[in-house]
Amino acid sequence: MTALAHPSLALVKYWGKVDGGINLPATTSIAITLAGPTTTTVARAGEADRLTVDGVVVDAERVRPILSAVRAAGDARGPAAVVVDSRNSFPTAAGLASSASGMAAYATAVAALHGLDTTDLVNLSRLARLGSGSASRSVFGGFTRWDAGADHARQIAPPEWWPELRVVILPVSVAAKEISSREAMNATRATSPYYAEWVADAPTLADEGEQAVARRDLERLGEVTRLSYLRMFATMLGANPPIVYWLPNSVAIQHEVARLRRAGIAAWETMDAGPQVKVLTTANDAPRIVEEMRHLCATEPIVCPAGAGVRLER
Ligand code: PMV
Repeated sequence: MTALAHPSLALVKYWGKVDGGINLPATTSIAITLAGPTTTTVARAGEADRLTVDGVVVDAERVRPILSAVRAAGDARGPAAVVVDSRNSFPTAAGLASSASGMAAYATAVAALHGLDTTDLVNLSRLARLGSGSASRSVFGGFTRWDAGADHARQIAPPEWWPELRVVILPVSVAAKEISSREAMNATRATSPYYAEWVADAPTLADEGEQAVARRDLERLGEVTRLSYLRMFATMLGANPPIVYWLPNSVAIQHEVARLRRAGIAAWETMDAGPQVKVLTTANDAPRIVEEMRHLCATEPIVCPAGAGVRLER
């Protein structure tokens, strides 16, 4: 079974988990599933459970909850062991949301191999979430919402809803990050004095973000996107020890984006658990952003419209 999935870029961020289940979010997130960057995952019966990412055998600890849940729900004649090979068309674990597309593709390929109904996207979203929270959103295409405390995400608008919208990914570094989003979230929650305020403020931003998507109001969505990521990083800077993902070129891009915006270009940036910057813009303005920012990037910028959810290739 082969499953394909794309990253889910949060415009309003999930940062922090609540107690109870696995990867249940403290904050509601609003996200866009990106066309272009793709994880392709092949699952087949094997001798022993094994997972490779880009050809390298990795510790399967992260996917074990998905595999256990699939085995519990699946066809009793499912394979005794599964071999899964996953490939990303973009750098892994560097804050380009490889965990979102990776876990969504993993859950879907393994669910299919065990005879589960892969047209049940809510169930796939629940399974994907067990590997990585943001993967619950990658299951769906277009624009998504994942409510605080919810065990699955949902679609709020299909990819076709906003054809002229673009996200420009600016890869500042291809090095793997030093601290995972999971560790960073837990440390923020445990040690940052700003964490409670972040959680208290989050519902308002999520609702404003969703309304801006519904109105296709890019300026408002851009403003909300900036507020959300900068407040998220404020909680991390308040952690002990402080968590700092930004590199000099991340900050240079933040300033360059502001300069372009003042010059009338549609450009609002966001960042995740890594040094990369992603810029929300239009199809019209995306080439200008690529031209202006290329010299600050480690690899070529990637321009992405909204994309499809997870799908199977047989
Ligand atoms: O689900 P994870 O562990 O990949 O964490 C995602 C965290 C952020 O990317 C920073 C925010 C988000 O909502 O995707």
